[in-house]
Amino acid sequence: MREKLPVLEKEAREALARAADAGALEAFRIAYLGKKGLITALMKGLGAVAPEERPLLGKLANELKQRITQAYEEKREAIAASAGGSERFVDVTLPGREPPCGHYHPISLVVEEVCQIFARMGYRVVKGPNVELDYYNFEALNIPRDHPARDMQDTFYVTDNVVLRTHTSPMQVRVMESQAPPVSVIAPGKVYRRDSDVTHTPMFHQVEGLLVDRDVTFGDLKGTLTTFVHQMFGSGTGLRFRPSFFPFTEPSAEVDIRCVICGGAGCRTCSQTGWLEILGSGMVDPNVYGFVGYDPEVYSGFAFGMGIERIAMLKYGIDDIQLFFRNDTRFLRQF
Ligand code: FA5
Ligand code: MG
Repeated sequence: MREKLPVLEKEAREALARAADAGALEAFRIAYLGKKGLITALMKGLGAVAPEERPLLGKLANELKQRITQAYEEKREAIAASAGGSERFVDVTLPGREPPCGHYHPISLVVEEVCQIFARMGYRVVKGPNVELDYYNFEALNIPRDHPARDMQDTFYVTDNVVLRTHTSPMQVRVMESQAPPVSVIAPGKVYRRDSDVTHTPMFHQVEGLLVDRDVTFGDLKGTLTTFVHQMFGSGTGLRFRPSFFPFTEPSAEVDIRCVICGGAGCRTCSQTGWLEILGSGMVDPNVYGFVGYDPEVYSGFAFGMGIERIAMLKYGIDDIQLFFRNDTRFLRQF
């Protein structure tokens, strides 16, 4: 066996020298270094030699294999380099590769669109804290200590007096506290509730609106929200004002739009009713003016608060709210 080694090495080197292109080189690799190749067979043959010769022969065979493998690698690089130099061909007529590019999240797009619609009607955009005092989130909105909306079920408490805001309505109080009427603002932002299923997530987005001036009526509220719905969903969209209750507005109404999925015929998304709730609204309750020092005999106004995820689901026909927060780029790329 010992004599066979130099012969095999010589043969291998000659064969390698003859391999002139990638195909021939691959044939060489299979013939010598492959699973059934000559060098592999040599290594396997070691089992048959006398035990006292085995260590030395094993060492020599290993070194041989390493030398041939290295020579093979060098040749492979040389062939690849020369192919790169002479055979690479650039087809300048092919369309370029588009680099992946970031863009707005669908929720941000809808917030932006809502803000633009109201900005055109003269509203100013304001922002406030997500971690809010109990006073602004509840107390000054006419929600006393024993009101069910304060139940631990719905609210994330930070301390006894500090909560994660459960709606954007505290911004009504913050704005009125800091300026005299007339007021017309919208306040977009994140809100938090202990809630999670296909239409609810523990964090979601609202846009609050507030308008206070002399002689503001429920008719102004209706006109403003009707204009909004028609600009957001199209001028043919049906809507209705349904009596409701909020502690900080009186009277109160929720706004439903004709189901954009089934056109009002009744489907899973609208629970067969043909209508979908998109926001809560009402005339600011005189009790709230008491907290901010406005005179309810002189001023009146309206407020509304809409769920952005709800509006985005209707606008884009999405039936699971959780999709907005999974960060699956296959979903996000579609907007
Ligand atoms: C409010 O939050 C009131 N602050 C709205 C308001 C403002 C009324 C000003 C009067 C004057 P409500 O809890 O119904 O109301 O929430 C408003 C909207 O937020 C709902 O119509 C719904 O679209 C959305 N919403 C409520 N809970 C969730 C949730 N867990 N996940 C996603 N969207 C939600
Ligand atoms: Mg509601």
